[in-house]
Amino acid sequence: MQITFDPIAKSRIDQVDFKQLSFGRSFADHMLVAEYADGAWQSVNIQPYGPLSYQPAMMSLHYGQAIFEGMKGYRSASGDVLVFRPEENLKRFNKSAHRMCMPEVPEEIFLGGLKKLLEIDKAWVPQEEGCSLYIRPFMFATDEYVGVTPSTTYKFIIFNCPVGSYYAKPLKVRVETQYIRSAKGGVGFAKNAGNYGGSLYPTQQAIQDGYDQIIWTDAATHQFVEEAGTMNLMFIVNGALVTAPTGDTILDGVTRKTVIQIAKDWGLDVQERPISVKELVEGIASGSVTEAFGAGTAAVIAPIQIIGFEGKDYELPARKDSDFSAKVFTEINQIRLGEVADTRNWVWKV
Ligand code: COI
Repeated sequence: MQITFDPIAKSRIDQVDFKQLSFGRSFADHMLVAEYADGAWQSVNIQPYGPLSYQPAMMSLHYGQAIFEGMKGYRSASGDVLVFRPEENLKRFNKSAHRMCMPEVPEEIFLGGLKKLLEIDKAWVPQEEGCSLYIRPFMFATDEYVGVTPSTTYKFIIFNCPVGSYYAKPLKVRVETQYIRSAKGGVGFAKNAGNYGGSLYPTQQAIQDGYDQIIWTDAATHQFVEEAGTMNLMFIVNGALVTAPTGDTILDGVTRKTVIQIAKDWGLDVQERPISVKELVEGIASGSVTEAFGAGTAAVIAPIQIIGFEGKDYELPARKDSDFSAKVFTEINQIRLGEVADTRNWVWKV
């Protein structure tokens, strides 16, 4: 499919201070916009990032047919733009699309379009340490209709943000035992917008009580740890890497599978199994749980310092360079930046 291009009149790159990047507030010059109608993708255009105009009855605004992905691009020492495992994001995007009755986005638009977009906006990929280009592909229903039914038209867009860290310091998280993120048979595994909207209220309550984030527990019993909404959760228990198994209710994170693979390659015992809150807090108290961290594209590896449960805070040991989470963070960074051999074929060169 032909990708057309309308260049920006004047780049906005001079307005961005790459030395002080926050997360998700600056946007690269161009975006890719693809249109779906009459059962097929009709057009793909790269155009200046900017406002789009829609009708108030646009269906995605009412019934939540909206999905997204998150990926990161890096600049290697030799100047190449490298994207970390984008094929995995494409696969997951189309799984989300299927669950939400939306059309699949073909590889030639998702990856082919991304390649072209990154060639055009290469200068927006930060070189500064700890920074990257956050890539946000998303799709939403655009029919102008008030009935509850799948839309017949969609837009698929990719825009890019030069970013710094998502979490700036080790986290204080609270186990959520009242509200739920997802239940069996639901849409928890999909990256649809509604999953994030529903998380705002309980997260806000936790923030008001001095926490940064919540740990979701299973909807049926609230006894088992699921994920954190912005990232999967992982623990070192008696030296083993333990994380909840994915399924209906947990996002199948790309960083999660990356950490698992590296841990296995390093010979660590990896256990994808239910982990109860009781096991977790008792383990922190007894010393068998030595590390807790989140794993996600935006967050990368986010160490957890404190876990709050039923009014009590459980503190993890102070972070050391020899910790698994510190070492895996370094390893992932080196792979993404092309500093070590990419033996697993994870790096996609633009
Ligand atoms: C990501 O890690 O890319 C996410 O989508 C999580 C969050 C920023 C919504």
